[in-house]
Amino acid sequence: AVAGARRAPALAAAMSVFVTRRIPAEGLRVLSQASGCRVQQWDSEEPVPRTELLAGVAGARGLLCLLSDRIDREVLDAAGPGLKVISTLSVGFDHLALDEIKKRGIRVGYTPDVLTDATAELSVALLLSTCRRLPEAAEQVKSGGWTTWKPLWMCGYGLSDSTVGIIGLGRIGQAVARRLKPFGVRKFLYTGSGPKPESAAEFGAEFVPLTRLAEESDFVVVTCALTPATQGMCNKDFFGRMKKTSVFVNTSRGAVVNQEDLYDALTSGQIAAAGLDVTTPEPLPTDHPLLSLKNCVILPHIGSATYATRSTMAVLAANNLLAGLRGEPMPHELKL
Ligand code: NDP
Ligand code: DGY
Repeated sequence: AVAGARRAPALAAAMSVFVTRRIPAEGLRVLSQASGCRVQQWDSEEPVPRTELLAGVAGARGLLCLLSDRIDREVLDAAGPGLKVISTLSVGFDHLALDEIKKRGIRVGYTPDVLTDATAELSVALLLSTCRRLPEAAEQVKSGGWTTWKPLWMCGYGLSDSTVGIIGLGRIGQAVARRLKPFGVRKFLYTGSGPKPESAAEFGAEFVPLTRLAEESDFVVVTCALTPATQGMCNKDFFGRMKKTSVFVNTSRGAVVNQEDLYDALTSGQIAAAGLDVTTPEPLPTDHPLLSLKNCVILPHIGSATYATRSTMAVLAANNLLAGLRGEPMPHELKL
């Protein structure tokens, strides 16, 4: 489908862009109203098939993509040497082959900051839903399992006087800590590639090795980027160190977690419960073993899913793309 076809022939070649999905209208409007910008779009709620992606990107100067589009050498080859800018509608960029992109001198825009509050809010909601067993309890009301008020029924774990370990005290990690602090958290621990005293000071958070974070935390919240170093980081050894009463929450990327090891930890009672907004693969097949567990709450990657946030992300992604095409500084450019 071709959207926003306002053509200025002299500029069209310089400003032809491919958008890989239907995005919030505000973002598409920015592109279609830009002078000389010719927009070609996969105008669907569903992902662009690989063949359509390869065909759609051919000859484009700009690509606006999503985290579900794998932008690798094959896509870059299909685009050809004219591709100058990639703008992703996400803060995560693990779906982009950055080495190859850098080699070709292509600039990359992304959407940090604007989704931090929404994602932190969802992380807290998921943590509370998991540790206080909200989906399970709500199901009991519907199924007739709620027979009377019972002192020993549907008990979970609270944040008051707890230790919370944050894996990746970045923008979202800090925003999560800021929201959890008023719940009465006693101690924050964090891990990352090095101590961040300025970020940690607000929470009195202590930088510790991953092993100590696992051993001492009552709640572990994963908010790091997916990198070769973090891939599979939450594995058998990690879960084996956690307390049997601890709750694990991941809102970063599914691949940070070894899901077989998580399943074993949840079924053997090695940890109390897990809340996941992200999985491998996405979507998680409906017959996946993790979905059979009462102590595992799984959401469909909705961290940034507020109307306002998604609209702002789309406008930012569009503005990143246009700035890159015009050779101007982008509102948010990824330094390669
Ligand atoms: P930031 O870049 O601000 O934070 C990323 C953090 O990852 C940094 O604090 C970094 O720590 C940490 N990190 C990197 N390597 C390691 C490591 N080896 N061990 C532990 N931590 C590490 O990004 P944001 O906070 O904005 O976003 C974080 C991620 O959240 C995104 O990359 C994305 O994957 C995910 N996300 C998910 C959403 C959802 O819908 N569920 C929504 C938005 C984002 P250091 O600085 O010390 O290297
Ligand atoms: C991101 O931006 O990386 C999220 O996963 C979706 O908003």
